[in-house]
Amino acid sequence: MPEKVLAHLDIRADGTYVDMTIGPGGHSELILESAPQGSLIGIDRDEQALELARQRLARFGGRFRLFHRRYSQLRAILEEAGVDEVDGVLIDTGLSRDQMLDPARGFSFDSREALDMRMDQSQELTGYEVVNNYSEEKLYQVLRRIGSGREARKLATWIVSFREGSGPIRTTAQLAEIIAAQMATAARRGKKRHPATPWLMAIRIEVNDEIDELQSGLQMATQALRPGVGRLVVLTWAGHEHGLVRRELRALQNPRTSGPPALLLDKGHRKPRVKYLTPRPLYPDEDEIRRNPAVRTCRLHAAQAV
Ligand SMILES: C[S@@+](CC[C@H](N)C(=O)[O-])C[C@H]1O[C@@H](n2cnc3c(N)ncnc32)[C@H](O)[C@@H]1O
Repeated sequence: MPEKVLAHLDIRADGTYVDMTIGPGGHSELILESAPQGSLIGIDRDEQALELARQRLARFGGRFRLFHRRYSQLRAILEEAGVDEVDGVLIDTGLSRDQMLDPARGFSFDSREALDMRMDQSQELTGYEVVNNYSEEKLYQVLRRIGSGREARKLATWIVSFREGSGPIRTTAQLAEIIAAQMATAARRGKKRHPATPWLMAIRIEVNDEIDELQSGLQMATQALRPGVGRLVVLTWAGHEHGLVRRELRALQNPRTSGPPALLLDKGHRKPRVKYLTPRPLYPDEDEIRRNPAVRTCRLHAAQAV
Protein backbone atom coordinates (compact mmCIF):
# COMPACT_ATOMS: atom_id res chain seq x y z
CA MET A 1 0.00 0.00 0.00
CA PRO A 2 2.80 2.60 0.51
CA GLU A 3 2.75 3.71 -3.15
CA LYS A 4 -1.03 4.09 -3.04
CA VAL A 5 -0.75 6.10 0.19
CA LEU A 6 1.72 8.53 -1.40
CA ALA A 7 -0.33 8.80 -4.61
CA HIS A 8 -3.54 9.59 -2.70
CA LEU A 9 -1.81 12.10 -0.45
CA ASP A 10 -0.81 13.78 -3.73
CA ILE A 11 2.47 14.86 -2.13
CA ARG A 12 3.72 18.39 -2.83
CA ALA A 13 7.45 19.09 -2.72
CA ASP A 14 7.03 21.79 -0.06
CA GLY A 15 3.86 20.50 1.62
CA THR A 16 3.09 20.20 5.33
CA TYR A 17 1.95 16.74 6.43
CA VAL A 18 0.66 15.10 9.58
CA ASP A 19 1.24 11.43 10.30
CA MET A 20 -1.34 10.85 13.04
CA THR A 21 -0.02 7.33 13.76
CA ILE A 22 3.68 7.57 13.06
CA GLY A 23 4.64 4.23 14.69
CA PRO A 24 8.22 3.35 13.75
CA GLY A 25 8.05 5.96 10.98
CA GLY A 26 7.85 3.90 7.75
CA HIS A 27 5.24 6.05 6.00
CA SER A 28 6.69 9.29 7.36
CA GLU A 29 10.07 8.44 5.90
CA LEU A 30 8.49 8.01 2.46
CA ILE A 31 6.54 11.26 2.81
CA LEU A 32 9.65 13.25 3.76
CA GLU A 33 11.59 11.68 0.87
CA SER A 34 8.83 12.60 -1.59
CA ALA A 35 8.53 16.18 -0.27
CA PRO A 36 12.15 17.41 -0.32
CA GLN A 37 11.26 20.89 1.02
CA GLY A 38 8.30 19.68 3.05
CA SER A 39 7.72 19.23 6.77
CA LEU A 40 5.98 16.66 8.89
CA ILE A 41 4.29 16.48 12.27
CA GLY A 42 4.33 12.96 13.69
CA ILE A 43 1.96 11.84 16.46
CA ASP A 44 1.86 8.65 18.46
CA ARG A 45 0.51 7.75 21.88
CA ASP A 46 3.32 5.20 22.30
CA GLU A 47 6.66 6.62 23.44
CA GLN A 48 8.58 3.55 22.31
CA ALA A 49 7.20 4.02 18.78
CA LEU A 50 8.20 7.70 18.81
CA GLU A 51 11.76 6.75 19.78
CA LEU A 52 11.97 4.38 16.80
CA ALA A 53 10.57 7.09 14.52
CA ARG A 54 13.04 9.65 15.90
CA GLN A 55 15.98 7.38 15.02
CA ARG A 56 14.61 6.49 11.59
CA LEU A 57 13.92 10.11 10.60
CA ALA A 58 17.07 11.66 12.13
CA ARG A 59 18.58 12.26 8.68
CA PHE A 60 15.76 14.73 7.87
CA GLY A 61 17.03 17.11 10.59
CA GLY A 62 14.56 19.88 11.47
CA ARG A 63 11.94 18.89 8.89
CA PHE A 64 9.88 16.86 11.37
CA ARG A 65 8.48 17.26 14.86
CA LEU A 66 7.13 14.50 17.09
CA PHE A 67 4.33 14.65 19.66
CA HIS A 68 3.51 12.09 22.33
CA ARG A 69 -0.25 12.55 22.24
CA ARG A 70 -3.48 11.01 21.02
CA TYR A 71 -4.45 12.07 17.54
CA SER A 72 -7.81 13.33 18.82
CA GLN A 73 -5.69 16.18 20.25
CA LEU A 74 -4.67 17.33 16.75
CA ARG A 75 -6.09 20.84 17.07
CA ALA A 76 -4.01 21.59 20.18
CA ILE A 77 -0.93 20.00 18.59
CA LEU A 78 -1.22 22.19 15.48
CA GLU A 79 -1.68 25.28 17.65
CA GLU A 80 1.43 24.39 19.62
CA ALA A 81 3.33 23.82 16.37
CA GLY A 82 2.08 27.15 14.94
CA VAL A 83 0.50 25.45 11.92
CA ASP A 84 -2.92 26.60 10.56
CA GLU A 85 -3.55 24.26 7.63
CA VAL A 86 -1.91 21.15 6.27
CA ASP A 87 -1.63 19.54 2.83
CA GLY A 88 -2.16 15.98 3.96
CA VAL A 89 -3.01 13.78 6.91
CA LEU A 90 -2.37 10.05 7.20
CA ILE A 91 -4.09 7.76 9.72
CA ASP A 92 -2.84 4.14 9.78
CA THR A 93 -5.02 2.55 12.45
CA GLY A 94 -4.30 -0.24 14.89
CA LEU A 95 -1.04 -1.68 16.12
CA SER A 96 2.47 -1.65 14.71
CA ARG A 97 4.36 -4.91 14.23
CA ASP A 98 6.72 -3.88 17.04
CA GLN A 99 3.81 -3.51 19.45
CA MET A 100 2.20 -6.77 18.36
CA LEU A 101 5.41 -8.81 18.57
CA ASP A 102 6.64 -7.49 21.93
CA PRO A 103 5.32 -10.01 24.52
CA ALA A 104 5.73 -7.42 27.29
CA ARG A 105 2.94 -5.30 25.72
CA GLY A 106 0.43 -8.14 26.08
CA PHE A 107 -1.25 -7.68 22.67
CA SER A 108 -0.57 -11.12 21.25
CA PHE A 109 -2.51 -14.25 22.21
CA ASP A 110 0.73 -16.07 23.07
CA SER A 111 2.03 -13.39 25.45
CA ARG A 112 2.65 -14.87 28.90
CA GLU A 113 3.38 -11.47 30.41
CA ALA A 114 0.90 -9.09 32.08
CA LEU A 115 -2.47 -8.52 30.37
CA ASP A 116 -1.60 -4.93 29.47
CA MET A 117 -2.68 -3.93 25.91
CA ARG A 118 -2.04 -0.21 26.41
CA MET A 119 -0.67 1.66 23.40
CA ASP A 120 0.21 4.50 25.76
CA GLN A 121 2.01 3.06 28.74
CA SER A 122 1.36 6.16 30.81
CA GLN A 123 -2.42 5.67 30.85
CA GLU A 124 -4.16 3.91 33.74
CA LEU A 125 -6.66 1.55 32.13
CA THR A 126 -5.16 -1.84 31.18
CA GLY A 127 -6.52 -5.11 29.77
CA TYR A 128 -6.19 -6.59 33.27
CA GLU A 129 -8.62 -4.01 34.64
CA VAL A 130 -11.17 -4.58 31.85
CA VAL A 131 -11.08 -8.37 32.11
CA ASN A 132 -10.93 -8.68 35.90
CA ASN A 133 -12.80 -5.67 37.26
CA TYR A 134 -15.51 -4.76 34.73
CA SER A 135 -19.02 -5.98 35.63
CA GLU A 136 -20.47 -8.77 33.50
CA GLU A 137 -22.77 -6.29 31.72
CA LYS A 138 -19.95 -3.87 30.97
CA LEU A 139 -17.77 -6.70 29.69
CA TYR A 140 -20.61 -7.87 27.45
CA GLN A 141 -20.93 -4.34 25.97
CA VAL A 142 -17.21 -4.34 25.22
CA LEU A 143 -17.25 -7.79 23.57
CA ARG A 144 -20.38 -7.27 21.48
CA ARG A 145 -18.76 -4.40 19.58
CA ILE A 146 -16.82 -7.04 17.65
CA GLY A 147 -18.52 -10.41 18.02
CA SER A 148 -22.10 -11.63 17.82
CA GLY A 149 -24.34 -10.60 20.75
CA ARG A 150 -25.09 -14.21 21.72
CA GLU A 151 -21.43 -15.23 21.81
CA ALA A 152 -20.44 -12.00 23.59
CA ARG A 153 -23.01 -12.71 26.32
CA LYS A 154 -21.78 -16.29 26.73
CA LEU A 155 -18.17 -15.20 26.91
CA ALA A 156 -18.81 -12.37 29.39
CA THR A 157 -20.63 -14.81 31.70
CA TRP A 158 -17.84 -17.36 31.36
CA ILE A 159 -15.04 -14.86 32.06
CA VAL A 160 -16.82 -13.60 35.18
CA SER A 161 -17.47 -17.12 36.50
CA PHE A 162 -13.85 -18.09 35.76
CA ARG A 163 -12.40 -15.13 37.66
CA GLU A 164 -14.78 -15.68 40.59
CA GLY A 165 -13.89 -19.37 40.80
CA SER A 166 -10.17 -19.34 39.97
CA GLY A 167 -8.99 -15.77 40.63
CA PRO A 168 -7.81 -13.04 38.25
CA ILE A 169 -6.81 -13.71 34.63
CA ARG A 170 -3.25 -12.46 34.55
CA THR A 171 -1.86 -12.90 31.03
CA THR A 172 -3.12 -12.55 27.47
CA ALA A 173 -2.20 -16.18 26.76
CA GLN A 174 -4.32 -17.32 29.73
CA LEU A 175 -7.26 -15.24 28.50
CA ALA A 176 -6.83 -16.60 24.95
CA GLU A 177 -6.87 -20.18 26.27
CA ILE A 178 -10.05 -19.53 28.28
CA ILE A 179 -11.74 -17.98 25.23
CA ALA A 180 -10.58 -20.79 22.91
CA ALA A 181 -12.00 -23.42 25.26
CA GLN A 182 -15.41 -21.71 25.23
CA MET A 183 -15.43 -20.72 21.58
CA ALA A 184 -14.29 -24.11 20.33
CA THR A 185 -17.01 -24.14 17.66
CA ALA A 186 -15.27 -21.38 15.73
CA ALA A 187 -12.05 -23.38 15.82
CA ARG A 188 -13.89 -26.54 14.70
CA ARG A 189 -15.35 -24.69 11.73
CA GLY A 190 -11.78 -24.78 10.45
CA LYS A 191 -11.10 -21.03 10.66
CA LYS A 192 -7.45 -20.23 10.24
CA ARG A 193 -7.18 -17.51 12.85
CA HIS A 194 -7.04 -18.22 16.59
CA PRO A 195 -10.61 -18.23 17.99
CA ALA A 196 -9.62 -15.60 20.58
CA THR A 197 -8.41 -13.07 17.97
CA PRO A 198 -11.60 -10.95 17.59
CA TRP A 199 -12.33 -10.98 21.33
CA LEU A 200 -8.83 -9.87 22.24
CA MET A 201 -9.26 -7.09 19.70
CA ALA A 202 -12.49 -6.02 21.41
CA ILE A 203 -10.64 -5.71 24.73
CA ARG A 204 -7.77 -3.81 23.09
CA ILE A 205 -10.30 -1.39 21.50
CA GLU A 206 -11.79 -0.72 24.93
CA VAL A 207 -8.41 -0.23 26.63
CA ASN A 208 -7.33 2.27 23.98
CA ASP A 209 -10.72 3.91 23.35
CA GLU A 210 -10.11 3.25 19.66
CA ILE A 211 -13.59 3.91 18.27
CA ASP A 212 -13.99 7.39 19.80
CA GLU A 213 -10.40 8.19 18.90
CA LEU A 214 -10.95 7.29 15.23
CA GLN A 215 -14.18 9.27 15.06
CA SER A 216 -12.68 12.42 16.51
CA GLY A 217 -9.43 11.87 14.60
CA LEU A 218 -11.38 12.01 11.32
CA GLN A 219 -13.15 15.19 12.41
CA MET A 220 -9.91 16.86 13.49
CA ALA A 221 -8.03 15.77 10.38
CA THR A 222 -10.62 17.04 7.92
CA GLN A 223 -10.85 20.38 9.77
CA ALA A 224 -7.09 20.83 9.46
CA LEU A 225 -6.86 20.25 5.69
CA ARG A 226 -6.10 23.15 3.36
CA PRO A 227 -9.38 23.89 1.54
CA GLY A 228 -9.54 22.65 -2.05
CA VAL A 229 -6.28 20.72 -1.98
CA GLY A 230 -5.62 18.99 1.36
CA ARG A 231 -5.85 15.21 1.31
CA LEU A 232 -6.75 12.66 3.98
CA VAL A 233 -5.69 9.02 3.66
CA VAL A 234 -6.84 6.39 6.15
CA LEU A 235 -5.64 2.78 6.29
CA THR A 236 -7.99 0.48 8.19
CA TRP A 237 -7.28 -3.11 9.16
CA ALA A 238 -10.49 -4.51 10.65
CA GLY A 239 -14.16 -4.72 9.61
CA HIS A 240 -15.51 -2.34 12.25
CA GLU A 241 -12.98 0.32 11.18
CA HIS A 242 -13.68 -0.06 7.44
CA GLY A 243 -17.38 0.63 8.14
CA LEU A 244 -16.76 3.49 10.56
CA VAL A 245 -14.46 5.38 8.18
CA ARG A 246 -16.87 4.94 5.25
CA ARG A 247 -19.80 6.23 7.30
CA GLU A 248 -17.89 9.22 8.66
CA LEU A 249 -16.45 10.24 5.28
CA ARG A 250 -19.86 9.90 3.63
CA ALA A 251 -21.34 12.11 6.35
CA LEU A 252 -18.57 14.68 5.88
CA GLN A 253 -19.26 14.69 2.13
CA ASN A 254 -23.06 14.81 2.43
CA PRO A 255 -23.79 16.33 5.83
CA ARG A 256 -27.44 17.04 4.96
CA THR A 257 -28.31 13.47 4.02
CA SER A 258 -25.88 11.38 6.06
CA GLY A 259 -25.33 13.35 9.26
CA PRO A 260 -26.81 12.63 12.68
CA PRO A 261 -30.60 13.40 12.78
CA ALA A 262 -30.28 16.49 14.98
CA LEU A 263 -27.98 18.13 12.46
CA LEU A 264 -30.14 17.14 9.47
CA LEU A 265 -32.95 19.21 10.97
CA ASP A 266 -30.66 22.19 11.27
CA LYS A 267 -31.20 23.31 7.65
CA GLY A 268 -28.16 24.55 5.83
CA HIS A 269 -26.09 24.31 8.97
CA ARG A 270 -23.34 22.13 7.63
CA LYS A 271 -21.59 22.36 4.28
CA PRO A 272 -19.75 19.39 2.73
CA ARG A 273 -16.26 19.31 4.18
CA VAL A 274 -14.69 16.74 1.85
CA LYS A 275 -15.02 15.00 -1.47
CA TYR A 276 -14.86 11.27 -0.79
CA LEU A 277 -12.39 9.99 -3.41
CA THR A 278 -12.75 6.26 -2.71
CA PRO A 279 -16.42 5.40 -2.07
CA ARG A 280 -15.16 1.87 -2.69
CA PRO A 281 -12.05 1.52 -0.51
CA LEU A 282 -8.90 0.28 -2.23
CA TYR A 283 -7.51 -3.22 -1.59
CA PRO A 284 -3.90 -4.36 -1.62
CA ASP A 285 -2.72 -6.03 -4.87
CA GLU A 286 -2.42 -9.81 -5.07
CA ASP A 287 1.34 -9.43 -5.38
CA GLU A 288 1.53 -7.39 -2.22
CA ILE A 289 -0.52 -9.96 -0.30
CA ARG A 290 1.74 -12.75 -1.57
CA ARG A 291 4.79 -10.86 -0.30
CA ASN A 292 3.20 -9.88 3.01
CA PRO A 293 0.02 -11.83 3.92
CA ALA A 294 -0.61 -9.56 6.94
CA VAL A 295 -1.65 -6.79 4.54
CA ARG A 296 -4.66 -8.73 3.17
CA THR A 297 -7.18 -7.05 5.51
CA CYS A 298 -5.93 -3.51 4.79
CA ARG A 299 -8.24 -0.99 3.08
CA LEU A 300 -7.34 2.50 1.89
CA HIS A 301 -9.81 5.39 2.09
CA ALA A 302 -9.05 8.84 0.68
CA ALA A 303 -10.78 12.21 0.74
CA GLN A 304 -9.98 15.75 -0.41
CA ALA A 305 -10.94 18.94 1.39
CA VAL A 306 -13.48 21.08 -0.51
C1 LIG B 1 -0.10 0.57 12.28
S1 LIG B 1 0.94 1.52 13.33
C2 LIG B 1 1.56 2.76 12.25
C3 LIG B 1 2.75 2.35 11.42
C4 LIG B 1 3.30 3.48 10.59
N1 LIG B 1 2.30 3.96 9.62
C5 LIG B 1 4.57 3.10 9.84
O1 LIG B 1 4.58 3.19 8.60
O2 LIG B 1 5.56 2.74 10.45
C6 LIG B 1 -0.19 2.43 14.30
C7 LIG B 1 0.43 3.34 15.34
O3 LIG B 1 -0.59 4.26 15.72
C8 LIG B 1 -0.52 4.50 17.09
N2 LIG B 1 -1.86 4.92 17.51
C9 LIG B 1 -2.99 4.21 17.47
N3 LIG B 1 -4.03 4.95 17.90
C10 LIG B 1 -3.54 6.18 18.18
C11 LIG B 1 -4.13 7.40 18.64
N4 LIG B 1 -5.43 7.48 18.90
N5 LIG B 1 -3.34 8.47 18.81
C12 LIG B 1 -2.01 8.39 18.53
N6 LIG B 1 -1.39 7.27 18.09
C13 LIG B 1 -2.15 6.17 17.92
C14 LIG B 1 -0.06 3.19 17.69
O4 LIG B 1 0.57 3.39 18.92
C15 LIG B 1 0.90 2.67 16.59
O5 LIG B 1 2.22 3.06 16.88
